Amino acid sequence: MDKVYEGKAKIVYRTEDPDKYILYFKDTATAFDATKKAQIVGKGELNNTISSLIFDMLEKKGIKTHFIRKLSQREMLVWRAKRFDVEVVVRNITAGSLCKRLGIEEGRLLHKPLVEFFYKNDTLHDPLLCYEHILLLELLKEEQVSVLKKTALEVNEILKDFFKERGLLFVDFKLEFGELPDGKIAIVDEISPDTCRLWDAKTGEKLDKDRFRFDLGDLIEGYKKVLERIQTL
Ligand code: TMP
Ligand code: ASP
Repeated sequence: MDKVYEGKAKIVYRTEDPDKYILYFKDTATAFDATKKAQIVGKGELNNTISSLIFDMLEKKGIKTHFIRKLSQREMLVWRAKRFDVEVVVRNITAGSLCKRLGIEEGRLLHKPLVEFFYKNDTLHDPLLCYEHILLLELLKEEQVSVLKKTALEVNEILKDFFKERGLLFVDFKLEFGELPDGKIAIVDEISPDTCRLWDAKTGEKLDKDRFRFDLGDLIEGYKKVLERIQTL
């Protein structure tokens, strides 16, 4: 197949339809700007399955995504999109870079969700962006910043409830956005335990990529627990 782009965890392929691409989920796990890297058999399949289930659910709730359908164990059919070079992070509970940056403890429940923008730029190590930085770099127009923030908060409410009903705490997550061939803004990339922090509500066990980042336990075991929970109900 004709490759459009290869990232750390996925490959994008062209199809016969110029408006549709195939996302191929690899078994590669990376962290800290890919300074930590491993092949983890089964990860691609799990992330494709989990992502497809979440995208399908969001679409049914009226959230625009690039998802068309799951094609195979490792492949997802998506709409072609012009991706914005920003990552939108929403946090419900303190963790990760927020704790490091502000010197606060992990696990504090935030009174209201916190939205952050990061510059998708490996050379610069994906720095945090102020609103004015986004405009200065012309990464987004003013009204697009509002649309992305509003959509990210809507997705947060949907997913927070969805995971809560399944005994999982939705700590934080990252979204990417792009413009579809019809000009509409949509969520692109993936929504999986690679891009979300999910903790078991009873035990506090971390079931996401922090298992790999900080050697907390078998990654596949965690991701399988997430899939089992979201497949039921
Ligand atoms: P952070 O606390 O490291 O900033 O991460 C916030 C959320 O974003 C967390 O759910 C993990 C996700 N994330 C990604 O999806 N890709 C990344 O490259 C990073 C650094 C975080
Ligand atoms: N995936 C990112 C990288 O490899 C970082 C992360 O998710 O922690 O750089």
